[in-house]
Amino acid sequence: MLAIIGGSGLTQLANLDVTRREVVRTPYGEPSGPLTFGRLGGRELVFIARHGYGHTIPPHRVNYRANIAALRNAGAGKVISVASVGGIRADLAPGSLVVPDQIIDYTWGRHSTFFDGHDGQVKHIDFTEPYDFDLRRRLLEAARLAGEAVVDGAVYAATQGPRLETAAEINRMERDGADVVGMTGMPEAVLAREAGLAYAALNVVVNHAAGRGASAHGIEMSAIEAMLQEAMMRVRHLLERLCEE
Ligand code: HPA
Repeated sequence: MLAIIGGSGLTQLANLDVTRREVVRTPYGEPSGPLTFGRLGGRELVFIARHGYGHTIPPHRVNYRANIAALRNAGAGKVISVASVGGIRADLAPGSLVVPDQIIDYTWGRHSTFFDGHDGQVKHIDFTEPYDFDLRRRLLEAARLAGEAVVDGAVYAATQGPRLETAAEINRMERDGADVVGMTGMPEAVLAREAGLAYAALNVVVNHAAGRGASAHGIEMSAIEAMLQEAMMRVRHLLERLCEE
């Protein structure tokens, strides 16, 4: 079964034919909200809103372990993560859809592993390619069929938040090789890998990163909101195509 983790602007899948909602607990605590099961494009899936259904949980307080454990326990084998980002690379303007292929993790202090050594074992998973190849392909193919332009490949910088970055921090991330910046991509991706789930991300660029583009003098949350609403309509459409394949 496919799981979708919805980020800002995607607290529900309006086109999801909901069959049931389930409140679950995990050994890691409570996930961000109930799991929503339903059908989309003829396929059964499970959805969770990363920040809660009322968008009340900030990125650094999301219980990523509980969310991933809950989805796995519900029978999900694949996870598509939808998340908004700031665009660092000049061509990644607001409105762009991006399927990233690499990650740099700048987050700190988050519970970032299931392998805490409690079972007396030390495990190091391979994370050379953080996103699942086949699931990325499916996303790209669904975008093509939906007629939505998507950028294939980008380096995602995961920051701690909840504040936005300084211009100098964005300059440093660009020197590091980052193309987009967001606050939730890690540890979600690595936990999915540890849990044995195929994971890919669909990023929606909602603003120029700090010090870039017209946002050079500050980032307006109102502009981000407007962009989110519009872009998430396209994301829903794309996801529906993906479920039809
Ligand atoms: N920075 C970090 N996270 C984000 C941004 C940003 O500019 N836009 C959306 N999520």
